[in-house]
Amino acid sequence: MTITAKGLDGIIVGDTKLSQVNGEEGKLIYAGYDIDQVAHLSFEEVCHLFLFGNLANTDQKESLKQNLNNRYGIAQKISDFICENALNQDPMSTLRTAVSMLSTFRKEPDITNEAELKDCALDLIAKTSAITAAIASVRQGQSPIKAKPNFSFAQNFLYMSTGQECNETLVKTMDTALVLHMDHGFNASTFTARVVTSSLSDMISAVVAAIGSLKGPLHGGANTAVMNMLMEIGSIENIEPWLDNALSTKRKIMGFGHRVYKTVDPRAKHLKKMSQEWGEKTGQQKWFLMSQKLESLMFEKKGLNANVDFYSASTYYTMGIQPDMYTPIFAVARIVGWCAHIMEQLKDNRIMRPKSNYIGEINKIL
Ligand code: CMC
Repeated sequence: MTITAKGLDGIIVGDTKLSQVNGEEGKLIYAGYDIDQVAHLSFEEVCHLFLFGNLANTDQKESLKQNLNNRYGIAQKISDFICENALNQDPMSTLRTAVSMLSTFRKEPDITNEAELKDCALDLIAKTSAITAAIASVRQGQSPIKAKPNFSFAQNFLYMSTGQECNETLVKTMDTALVLHMDHGFNASTFTARVVTSSLSDMISAVVAAIGSLKGPLHGGANTAVMNMLMEIGSIENIEPWLDNALSTKRKIMGFGHRVYKTVDPRAKHLKKMSQEWGEKTGQQKWFLMSQKLESLMFEKKGLNANVDFYSASTYYTMGIQPDMYTPIFAVARIVGWCAHIMEQLKDNRIMRPKSNYIGEINKIL
């Protein structure tokens, strides 16, 4: 029997214990925990859940923080590459190449050795954050900034990005945003990582491929595209005429729709609240108010809900982050999920090899 499912719609390609996306009820489960329960925990606590199977207790949290702290350093050649390219390149392209360069400076882990895989995962998580932060700082005219000992992951990410010791509210918001983006079933980038892994390729290759997949505007690239769209619309008064015109030309409205969620994306609820709070705190309510109006008009006219990328855009913008950096920040969080999925794939691997439906000619004669 031949089944054709364009975009693998509705196809289950494997088992996972990492996260469940329940599209009908709008629920997201992280290894047993509802996202609403874990959203306000720290990056370290939830990262520990994905890599080691339990939410970190106080000692484990401190030990993971120190472990990551020892790994932020990146080779001079990678730092030089970032300094030479970050200003002129899409940050996701710089990130992809810089992460790929990591394989020059570390031994590939033995894919049958769990300890070596976890060591590589921790290295990738820390160094992806350091590389992303270096890209952000170079784009603001600074040199790459070294991590501070004893800072948490979110604190260090913001510090390496800006050179400033950020206040508690900023760190808390970044922690929550990272946790909300950490894993999400077999989304395109995670599936990409699993496909690469399924041929028994190495962890860095799988992560590099996943970064490439995340970059696209139908996936992680949507958060940057949302902010560009809000700036293009410009004012609350222009939303309805802009939207009517965009829909009449079949334009995709960034930050709306989802393959799996048929109701509200549970991550968007948290980000909406964060966007409102940041708008009020900074006196830049315009972006939240515009987003809120666009959200209600999209539901009214198309029956589509906002996804995770929609309110993350206005949240990051009012936090003072450049729009081009939103997708790399998504990668800083999602790499935890990618690494956990790579290790899970290796435990029960079978090469991913779907069939295609050939629709070309078959009777050509030379
Ligand atoms: N704007 C306008 N129409 C839309 C949108 C949208 N954002 N999303 C879906 N539709 C329409 C689409 O035109 C189609 O209508 P019709 O049946 O009349 O042709 C119908 O809804 C089904 O859409 P689809 O594109 O076939 O749905 P899909 O499951 O293949 O794609 C999606 C899902 C998320 C790629 C899509 O909704 C989309 O392009 N959204 C905008 C980009 C975006 O926000 N991406 C982030 C996704 S969530 C987080 C992440 O992965 O990063």
